[in-house]
Amino acid sequence: MRALVFAANWKMNVGPSEAREYLAIFRHAYAPIPDRQVWFFPPAVSLEAVGEGLQHRDDLLAGAQDIHWEPKGAFTGAISGPLASQAGARAALIGHSERRHVFGETDEQTGKKVAAALAAGLHPVLCVGETLAQREAEQTMAVVTRQLEAALPEPGPISTLTIAYEPVWAIGTGRNATPKDAAEVHSGIRAWLKQRGTEGIKILYGGSVNLKNAAELLAQRELDGVLVGGASLDPAGWAELVRTAAA
Ligand code: PGA
Repeated sequence: MRALVFAANWKMNVGPSEAREYLAIFRHAYAPIPDRQVWFFPPAVSLEAVGEGLQHRDDLLAGAQDIHWEPKGAFTGAISGPLASQAGARAALIGHSERRHVFGETDEQTGKKVAAALAAGLHPVLCVGETLAQREAEQTMAVVTRQLEAALPEPGPISTLTIAYEPVWAIGTGRNATPKDAAEVHSGIRAWLKQRGTEGIKILYGGSVNLKNAAELLAQRELDGVLVGGASLDPAGWAELVRTAAA
């Protein structure tokens, strides 16, 4: 069976007490399926509650939505890799399009954050993706390659890394890439990784994935899983998606 990752990005939703209730429902609705992992990215204030709610199930994992590149210091409002790890995170999203486009995060900063995640023992989930204008100008692979190069400047194998391909125009819009378009970019990313000496990295697709379209997307062998925002907020619906999206 192919190993799949289902990642839930809760964004600025689900506080600590809601997270406890969510996980109680989710655990009840979703029994482990071999080779299937479910990763939760709650807001930082809910990391500990999620960590507790996972109840040591090794198919479930908690991660941070963002980290600062410094391990500590005077950075009001930010959380570092070591702090996220202390709160129960084992992974971190890096360079999510909302960080890049709403908060102005640069390619250079995503590079520093990937390094900081690895230094803190967190598994980085590097998000890449083009805007609609860039897709229409046929710059998708150029943009994605630039983002990869900036975030992973050193060639050579990387043991812990996941990539999430999320076209910006597909996030939260109800529009998503066709399975074929998604697979094409995934295969371009895989070729880039291979040429840099890294193989076996999982590549997730994200952007308006839901119960209706997840199976069709995952029918593409190039997709190793999905990163889901809106459709991961309801625990029963999310459990159903993880259960039914692949054979
Ligand atoms: P969406 O978000 O599923 O709500 O489009 C995906 C994401 O931003 O990771």
